[in-house]
Amino acid sequence: MQLVLQKVTQKEIRSEVLRERSRIGGATKFTELFVALLDSEQVGLLSIDFRPKSEPLELYEIFVTRECRQHGVGSFLLEQAEALGRARGYSSVILKPHPLDTDQDKTSLVRWYRKRGYAMHKSIDDMMEKML
Ligand SMILES: CC(C)(COP(=O)(O)OP(=O)(O)OC[C@H]1O[C@@H](n2cnc3c(N)ncnc32)[C@H](O)[C@@H]1OP(=O)(O)O)[C@@H](O)C(=O)NCCC(=O)NCCS
Repeated sequence: MQLVLQKVTQKEIRSEVLRERSRIGGATKFTELFVALLDSEQVGLLSIDFRPKSEPLELYEIFVTRECRQHGVGSFLLEQAEALGRARGYSSVILKPHPLDTDQDKTSLVRWYRKRGYAMHKSIDDMMEKML
């Protein structure tokens, strides 16, 4: 399975599901959007807030199209977000583990992040963090 990360603007998101997700999710002036390409098909969305380096990198949204889940696309996007953070000099990444689909619960989402090195944030309620 050949996965590639591509930086995009909202207009360049061809997948209707992913475009809708990015629209609902919103953006700040710090937000950058990326898609995961699987054989040139857009199968995942990654939205990251690159605030000033004194703040952590914030993973704002990670979303994989339903039919492509459980194949490592989410893990790929998370690893890519962390690699971008490291490359740009951030020392940690934070995120709010909030299920975006009704068929996923928060407990399993928190478990998914924990398995990938995240822990509950020491001082911000309901957030998780990982040192880069
Ligand atoms: C959470 C989410 C991003 C995970 O994406 P995903 O692509 O299913 O994630 P992965 O495939 O990397 O991991 C899912 C499971 O599949 C397994 N897996 C990974 N690669 C695999 C492969 N090649 N074959 C079979 N299973 C695989 C993983 O081991 C993992 O199980 P684990 O957590 O027990 O390790 C996805 O479920 C999603 O988009 N949810 C809706 C949006 C949402 O709520 N986002 C969170 C916002 S905070």
